[in-house]
Amino acid sequence: MNTAQTSTSPRMVEIEKAEGIYLYGPQGQKYMDLVSGFNVSNIGHRHPKVISAIKEQLDKYLHVTVYGEFVQAPQVQFATDLLATLPGSFESVYLTNSGAEAVEGSMKIAKRYTGRRQIIAARKAYHGSTQGALSLIGNEAYHQAYAPLLPEISFIDFNNQEHLSAITEQTAAVILEAIQGEAGVRVPDIAYMRAVRKRCDETGTLLIFDEIQTGFGRTGKLFAFEHFGIVPDILMLAKGIGGGMPLGAFVAPKRVMDVIKDNPMLGHITTFGGHPVSCAAAKASLEVIQEEQLIEQVEEKAQLFLQLLSHPKIKEIRGLGLMMCIQLDNFDQVYNVSKYAAENGVMIDWYLHCETALRIAPPLTITSEQIENACAVILKGIDIYG
Ligand SMILES: Cc1ncc(COP(=O)(O)O)c(C=O)c1O
Repeated sequence: MNTAQTSTSPRMVEIEKAEGIYLYGPQGQKYMDLVSGFNVSNIGHRHPKVISAIKEQLDKYLHVTVYGEFVQAPQVQFATDLLATLPGSFESVYLTNSGAEAVEGSMKIAKRYTGRRQIIAARKAYHGSTQGALSLIGNEAYHQAYAPLLPEISFIDFNNQEHLSAITEQTAAVILEAIQGEAGVRVPDIAYMRAVRKRCDETGTLLIFDEIQTGFGRTGKLFAFEHFGIVPDILMLAKGIGGGMPLGAFVAPKRVMDVIKDNPMLGHITTFGGHPVSCAAAKASLEVIQEEQLIEQVEEKAQLFLQLLSHPKIKEIRGLGLMMCIQLDNFDQVYNVSKYAAENGVMIDWYLHCETALRIAPPLTITSEQIENACAVILKGIDIYG
C-alpha cells in the first residue's frame, strides 16, 4: 500500500460505492454500515438532497479565498441555520476542515479571552490527533509517545464531582465530550454536568463541549448538551455536520470569538476551513435531519437495538440514542465478532480507549427491519465468538 497506515491491522475492505446505510465492494459485496464512518453519515451515505446541494455549488464556485476574507453564501447560510438551532448565547461560528481544528481554535480563544493558561480535560478523552488536541487525550501512552505536548493541561476523572475542585480561577477552560465516545460511550450523570457548569461559573472558566461525535442528532437530541439542561460556552462540532463532506466548527459568543481579530490580527486562520461545497452539504444535511424528523425516531430505534441485543455474553450495553456500545469481556471477542459481522455484511468496530466493547452507531435513517437483520448477525457472532 502506498497510502500511510495508522495501525498494523487495517481492515482493508475496498469500497466502490455507498448509498443509504449500505457500503458496496467491487465484487458486489454489500455491508450494512453500523459505524457511519465514525459518526459522520448520520443521514446515511449520499443523501440525494446533499448530493444535489453539492452539485449546485460545484456549478458556482469551489475555493475562492482563505477563510473570512470574502462573503461566501454557503458559509453564511449554514452558520445562520446552525445558530438558529442553538441557544442565543451562541452568536458566532468559525468553520474548520475537521474536528481537531475546531479543538485547536477553541483552546486558543479560551486562553485569549480569559487571559489564563491552564486547560482541564478528562481522562480517557479523545479530541483529535493534532498536537494541541492530542495534549487533551486522557491516555498516558499517547502523551509519552508524542511528548512534549502542550504545557499546563490537567486531567480530571470524567463524571466524578469530587475532582471539580481542580477547576480554579487559574483555569481558562474545561474541555469535555458531552458523552465520552472513545472511552466506550460513557454517559455522564445530569447532576455531574450541572456541577461542572456551576464550578465553571464560580471560577470564570469557559466550559467547552466536544460534540464532534455526539452532535447532529446522534443521541436523540440535535446536541447532547440538551439532555443535561445546561449550555456550554463554546461548542465544537465536526463529523456529522458535513453530511459526508469534511467540515468542522466551533461556536461561541461573539465577544469570545472576536479575540482572534486583532492584537495580533489574523489570530486563527485557515485556507480551506468552511469550504463552500462542504457548507452547502452541511446546510442540506441539517435540513434533512429536520424535514425527515430523524431525531424524533432515534429513541424508538435505540430501544429496538436494546430489546434485540439480549445475550448472556453481553455484559452491558451503554449509550444514549444511537451512540451505543456493547460491552464484552476481551478484545479477542470484539475482534472476532467484528470480523464475523463484516464477513456477514455488517460493519461494526470498537473504541480507541475501550477495545473490549463493540461500537454501534448506525445512520439515523436505519429502519426497524435493518436493525433486526443487523442484530441477528451480531448475536450470531457473539454466539460463536463471545
Ligand atoms: C470526540 C472527538 N473529538 C474530536 C475528534 C477529532 O476529529 P477529526 O478526526 O475530524 O479531527 C474526534 C474524532 O474521532 C472525536 O471523536
